[in-house]
Amino acid sequence: MDRIRLFDKEFALSINPARIQNAVSKIAEEINRDLTGENPIFLSILNGSFMFTSDLLKKIRMDCQVSFIKFSSYEAISSTRRVKKLIGLDEDIKGRSLVLLEDIIDTGNTIVSVVNELKPMKPKQIKIATLFLKPGTYNGDINPDYVGLEIPNDFIVGYGLDYNQLGRNYEGVYKIIQ
Ligand code: IMP
Ligand code: MG
Repeated sequence: MDRIRLFDKEFALSINPARIQNAVSKIAEEINRDLTGENPIFLSILNGSFMFTSDLLKKIRMDCQVSFIKFSSYEAISSTRRVKKLIGLDEDIKGRSLVLLEDIIDTGNTIVSVVNELKPMKPKQIKIATLFLKPGTYNGDINPDYVGLEIPNDFIVGYGLDYNQLGRNYEGVYKIIQ
């Protein structure tokens, strides 16, 4: 499929499934090289990372664990500020090697917030793997250790990524047609 329509927007195929799998394999090889013997915990940041997590883990050749976390936004009762809270982490991560799995890093706000929540729990190390990176817009002060593909600053969907919750189910990645 070369084009898809989601709500009012048209998207054109920009990264085909084979290129995505190559990028996933590259990350897996690097992690296999760097973290063997560490028994790492892969922390997949939902929802966008579910496909990346599934494909990556099939290529990891070491003892490892996987867990899924989510950032939930809610209105704090005592203030009007929107508070983000990390949910879903039930492992004791003290002294453990963590690999955060992100679908895409854009501004970097999400990954910086996740790292800031995890650090006080005293993991041994925190590695960051992102399938896609938009280097044009990234302004976080944390650099990802593993990057699948650097992409231009276009809005994309597919392979887990959504537009208003639609489009996550495609094997390829599609970019918005302006
Ligand atoms: P950041 O916090 O700005 O780095 O953005 C991270 C999150 O925004 C990702 O985990 C995605 O859920 C979402 N996001 C960023 N860029 C895109 C995109 O092009 N398409 C769909 N979702 C995106
Ligand atoms: Mg996401």
